[in-house]
Amino acid sequence: MDPYESFTALLASYPSPRIACIVGAGLSAGSGLSTFRGENGMYKDIDPMLLASRWGFSNDPLTVWTWYRDRIAKVLSTTPNPGHLALVELERLGVLHKIITQNVDGLHLQAGQSAEKLVEIHGSLSRTHCFEECGREFTIESVPEEVPVMCECGSYQRPSVVFFGEAITFSFYTLVDEIERDVDILLLIGTSGTVVPVSQIPYAVRGSTKIININPDPKTFAGITDISFEGKAEEVLPRLVEIISASLES
Ligand code: OAD
Repeated sequence: MDPYESFTALLASYPSPRIACIVGAGLSAGSGLSTFRGENGMYKDIDPMLLASRWGFSNDPLTVWTWYRDRIAKVLSTTPNPGHLALVELERLGVLHKIITQNVDGLHLQAGQSAEKLVEIHGSLSRTHCFEECGREFTIESVPEEVPVMCECGSYQRPSVVFFGEAITFSFYTLVDEIERDVDILLLIGTSGTVVPVSQIPYAVRGSTKIININPDPKTFAGITDISFEGKAEEVLPRLVEIISASLES
């Protein structure tokens, strides 16, 4: 069956669907930002542990900061795409419970998503804090001229994103409990599902929540999805939101 027809049929069982999303780098691919893995992914030619770990930062802050400066420059020069805007529309329709985004690019907020609906689970490139944890926090509004960026205490600032090996500041079990309790449909959008703990959420909630996957790569989350859209988020999401809107009106 055509996945759009399956989705329309699914909505018939949920007159006021409660929808949550787990988002990955694929959503921002439509804004010209690279994903991490895959053929043109940022990790293709370099070990991510060298770039995105506490050890990697201590070992070579210049290389790490140069990589982040390049990413900050790209993020500051891009804009949200129709996929981000479709998620804002989902909120406007009153059916969006929450977006758990792994993206650190701030494009959800730039698109107009409410901060209350957003869990930036891997942090944000728009903030830094002291690497030595003196407690100082900073906001990034332009591309840093000099890297590594220094903290006022004499140490380095570091991007306020989660490094490999660091714990997220959100409780996995709280998020799972909340989805099980409050969500009918979970959209997985442009994520390879390789980074824990976010990648485990769909497996934890699949008994109580319908799982919809949107990804050009059909192998992602194979076996646990109720409906799979093998396509680009910036093309699929606007169509899904149109279908949801029509079903709310009917
Ligand atoms: P990945 O790079 O691992 O996966 C991106 C996914 O997006 C892949 O499954 C692609 O097939 C898919 N994709 C590509 N283009 C797409 C498009 N136009 N529409 C929809 N999907 C598309 O990125 P994440 O799953 O987000 O961590 O990676 C998870 C985490 O790994 C990131 O948050 C990052 C990284 O280390 C931190 O920064 C802390």
